[in-house]
Amino acid sequence: MPIEYFPTNLTMPPPPPPPPPPQEPVVFDASVLQHQANLPSQFIWPDHEKPCLEPPELAIPPIDFGSFLSGDPLAVSRLAQQVHEACEKHGFFVIVNHGVDPKLIAEAHECMNKFFGKQLAEKPAQRKIGEQYGYASSFTGRFSSKLPWKETLSFRYCADNQSSNIVQEYFLNVMGEEFEEFGKVYQEYCEAMNTLSLGIMELLGVSLGVGHEYFRDFFQGNDSIMRLNYYPPCQKPDLTLGTGPHCDPTSLTILHQDHVSGLQVFVDEKWHSVTPDPEAFVVNIGDTFMALSNGIFKSCLHRAVVNSVTVRKSLAFFLCPKMDKVVKPPNTLVDYKNPRVYPDFTWSALSEFTQKHYRADMKTLDVFTTWLQQRNNREDTKKYFSLLIRLIK
Ligand code: OGA
Ligand code: NI
Repeated sequence: MPIEYFPTNLTMPPPPPPPPPPQEPVVFDASVLQHQANLPSQFIWPDHEKPCLEPPELAIPPIDFGSFLSGDPLAVSRLAQQVHEACEKHGFFVIVNHGVDPKLIAEAHECMNKFFGKQLAEKPAQRKIGEQYGYASSFTGRFSSKLPWKETLSFRYCADNQSSNIVQEYFLNVMGEEFEEFGKVYQEYCEAMNTLSLGIMELLGVSLGVGHEYFRDFFQGNDSIMRLNYYPPCQKPDLTLGTGPHCDPTSLTILHQDHVSGLQVFVDEKWHSVTPDPEAFVVNIGDTFMALSNGIFKSCLHRAVVNSVTVRKSLAFFLCPKMDKVVKPPNTLVDYKNPRVYPDFTWSALSEFTQKHYRADMKTLDVFTTWLQQRNNREDTKKYFSLLIRLIK
């Protein structure tokens, strides 16, 4: 018997597929995930962003910061030139002989081992969506794809006189008495980073021809961020990233990495690894300093990869201006041949933009600039119409 043929069935659209079940935010419990051969899909990065695990090493001579501090004019001008070349090209250099006590650095790492070694439920100050400070395991609540394979603890450091114990107070009051000692260590560490970053600002000022004082003064009373990055091992390190490719939206980053490699920077159109040296600090320019230098110094594009064997740790100090300070380049860096590249903005506005509207990546500053210009245009139009209405009345 021939099969009956109902042409109407063919033209009927198929019933819509059932909606996918809402994706539960994945819980990043390192003690479990580090042994798992199948990564949750949220951690698998698209092919074009997957890491290269053995890239060429970036060979750049370190800056001997001690000889800059010595004030010897010949050494200062040589180092200023070296820094200028590095920052103009890729926004990244390494400093040695920096004067920070190695015992303090070792203690800061030791506290990280103790903190991140705790069970997930015992880690205090867990960040909720919209919060900037506290413990975050892989931003699992905020994003649903391209999650970084890491845990972080972030807190505020502020160099003004009224906040002289801000880090210590955070550990004691928010994290609890058990963490009081950690607070002392990180308060001291942040103070050392504040001193070092202001010294580096002198070097950047000299290398941009605006003198020792200009940027040092700009960052007096800075409102900075300290972040502890903890990258657990991962059984499929070729599928994921510890930190995706990004430029730091902040001004200057001073990073201390332990002995495990993982940091990569993008130079000459290729990813390069930065071999860790526990005696050195890695320094990079961020978006806000790129704007301050009128685009002469580049915000460094970087990322971090993970490995299947060892935990990797880094301590990142992000120097930021006071919240309401206007970010604009000194007049000497602007002329008719070098017009302003970025509009005036405040760190408060850029910081809010990266928390509420845009996940920091390699385009943050350009997207922020366009957003700001559109907002300013909208405000100008509003002002214009309200003036017009008043005139008509
Ligand atoms: C960061 C960062 C790199 C690293 O925290 O912004 O880029 O090696 N970290 O941990
Ligand atoms: Ni970074």
